[in-house]
This record gives sequence, C-alpha cells and structure tokens, in this order.
Amino acid sequence: MKAVILISGNGTNLQSIIDHADSINLEISAVISSNKKALGLKRAESVNINTHFIDSNIFITKEAFDRELISIIDRLDVGLIILAGYMKILSPIFIHHFSGKILNIHPSLLPKYRGLNTHKRAIIALEKHHGASVHFVTEELDGGPVISQEIVDINTNDTETTLAKKVLEKEHILYPKVINWYTQNRLKLINENTATLDGKIL
Ligand code: GAR
Repeated sequence: MKAVILISGNGTNLQSIIDHADSINLEISAVISSNKKALGLKRAESVNINTHFIDSNIFITKEAFDRELISIIDRLDVGLIILAGYMKILSPIFIHHFSGKILNIHPSLLPKYRGLNTHKRAIIALEKHHGASVHFVTEELDGGPVISQEIVDINTNDTETTLAKKVLEKEHILYPKVINWYTQNRLKLINENTATLDGKIL
C-alpha cells in the first residue's frame, strides 16, 4: 500500500517505518514536512524518498495550507496518511477529505494527556504509568478512536527526557505494527468514536 508520511521534526518514528516498510507492505510515496529543518527530511532523502516542505508562512489561512497539502497528497494517490510527529493541527477540510485514512501516534495513554507536553504532565501528576497510543484521526484533536497502546512505567527518578526516550522506543515498535494491520485492510474507522480490527470493535 502506498502512503505519505507527515512530519515536523526528528523523524525517529519515520525512521522506524522506513526500516519496517518492506515487511509491512508499505511503499512510502513521499515525506512531507511542515518544518524545513526537520531531521526527518534528511532521513527520507538518504533513502531516496521524495520530500516536500510546505511553508505555512506563505498561506493566509490554515485551510489554504491544508488545501495545498491535499493537492500534493491527491496527486500521490495514496491509501494511507501517516502522521509521525506532525505538529500542526489539521483542519476539518483535510480530515474529511481523507476520512478513515489518517493515523496518528501520540505520546500518552489516550484519552489521558491530549495535546502537548505529555511527559511533563504525566510526571507532575505522579502517574505510575505512561505510554503511547496510535489512533485514527478525526476532527477532535487527539480524540479519534484508539487502535493500540504501549505502556511504560514511570519511575521516581524519571525526567521528561528519560520518559520521552522510553516512550519513543515503544512507539517505534507500536506504529509499524498498527500500520501493518492497516495495509492488510484489517483496520476500519466506522465513525468518530469507533474503529474495528478484523471486524471487531476496538
Ligand atoms: C513522538 O513522540 C510522537 O508521539 C509525538 O512527537 C514525537 C515525534 O518524534 N507526536 C506528537 O506529539 C503529536 N501531537 P519523532 O519525530 O522522533 O518521530
């Protein structure tokens, strides 16, 4: 299955997906970044994947930016859009255009800690556990149905940095696993709140 991967930063999840691509039947048609300096762009270029940088500063509205994104992705004719550390909020126009075809990975055990600074917030709240979630993207920010999660323990000596590292290691296993389910046509978004794996509600 052809996919496009949207990034904004380091791209360690992108790297993991690149490394697993053959075994999960994924052809990465392009990597699109909202950040010109994203290390992920270099990772893609080094294995000859097409890259695009879209500069949000040249668009007057978020919708205009997303329409450009839509037109690039439509031309690529992909079956899946993978958000891998993409730090822009997608507009409803984009989400409806590709409904049921957008996956995101989020660094928390959703529905806990939507949004930013998830590691810091989990430590401050004295959580014992934290983790990562992969979910379908719907209009509600970080609120689409969760597909699968990985859990890590929070130790008393954990800092934001050590916790982020532990969570990322889990993300690198979790995301290719879920993408594989998708490329095998086993995953479906039924509605805003419901996803299925092999026809069973998750
Ligand atoms: C990952 O931890 C991912 O879960 C998070 O950004 C990091 C990207 O790392 N995504 C979000 O916070 C999305 N709201 P990476 O660029 O090394 O893959």
